[in-house]
Amino acid sequence: MKYLFDQIINRKHSDSIRWDKYGPEVIPLWVADMDFQSPECVVRALRQRIDHGVYGYTYASQSLKESIQAYIKRQYNWDIETSWIHFLPSLVTGLHLSVRMLTDVGDHVLIPGPAYHHFRDAVVGAGRDYSIYNLPLQEGRSTFSISQLESLVKPNTRLLMLCNPHNPGGTVFTKVELASLSQFAKQHQLIICSDEIHADLILDEGLQHIPIGSIGGVEERSFSLMSLNKTFNFPGLGLAWVICPNPQLSQQLLKDLHTLIPSPNLLSYVATQAAIEHGQAWHQVLIQYLRANRDCVNQRIQSISGLSMNHLQATYLAWIDASQLHWDNPFEQFLKAGVALSPGSQFGNAQFVRLNFGTQRALLEKALDRIEVACNS
Ligand SMILES: Cc1ncc(COP(=O)(O)O)c(C=O)c1O
Repeated sequence: MKYLFDQIINRKHSDSIRWDKYGPEVIPLWVADMDFQSPECVVRALRQRIDHGVYGYTYASQSLKESIQAYIKRQYNWDIETSWIHFLPSLVTGLHLSVRMLTDVGDHVLIPGPAYHHFRDAVVGAGRDYSIYNLPLQEGRSTFSISQLESLVKPNTRLLMLCNPHNPGGTVFTKVELASLSQFAKQHQLIICSDEIHADLILDEGLQHIPIGSIGGVEERSFSLMSLNKTFNFPGLGLAWVICPNPQLSQQLLKDLHTLIPSPNLLSYVATQAAIEHGQAWHQVLIQYLRANRDCVNQRIQSISGLSMNHLQATYLAWIDASQLHWDNPFEQFLKAGVALSPGSQFGNAQFVRLNFGTQRALLEKALDRIEVACNS
């Protein structure tokens, strides 16, 4: 079947961070954006807004908040109030704010590992003490262990950071796992900051994303950071939001909003609302395409001697174990072979690489051929 997503879009010379970092011969499968155009409904809405010609200071409308409220109900069956939604220019801003605004110097934070590098950057940048809780493999998927968390928690631990679905590794945490985490947080009086940017990139049929605040009993001490930037592929527009049911907590978190932290740009509001209201069919086809790409990557990686990966439940970011190749730096070796991946060191394990398969199948297969040649040579 020919998919819309098979169409090659030339991204060179569009000042793309992903496409312009390495030479023209390198296939760039690193930073997490996709090579697909956003849905037509988004492009149309942006075009219409651009044609207006006046781009003054703009607020997030009540109608956008209501669209998000309806989206959260539709996607996750979670009833929220529009007053719980607050906008940020990026999700990373939310991670850093969480550490800086909700903890003091001398406090301790629990962060996952290996994980998206901004979890560690946020605690190191703020000069906070931290411990990394690992996600050991249990029955083929990486998940946290409450007994390990119990061994790491300290009297001065204030904040627990979660990435759900997890990047890298793609774990979608279950209700039972999240309930046990919530129980742990309650017992130790911790706040949970949950990065849920990959919530709508679940590839396994039958799995469901569960926002942290929808788990009973932890609404007062948790908040979700969300965005449609990844799902509908407009991260360059920049918009994220916090859903925080506890007004005291959101006040503490967002004290610097609109002073130190700028408002999102007006086009990001337009794109998000169009995606919510008209992007559902596009999203369904995207998931089918990414699922087939995931299966293609999985099958090829398992067939290459020295490489392995676990089944990825969500995201378009495969976490590949290259330790059996006994190379000092797998990232460098693959780069020499003409494929730019993300070095595993960025997430906490240099023997891994992360591969972004949010691209056209033909390009993905070419990159996998190069990877295979590098491993066999
Ligand atoms: C887990 C996670 N959080 C946040 C981000 C970045 O979000 P934003 O571009 O909105 O800052 C990424 C991007 O890869 C991510 O994987």
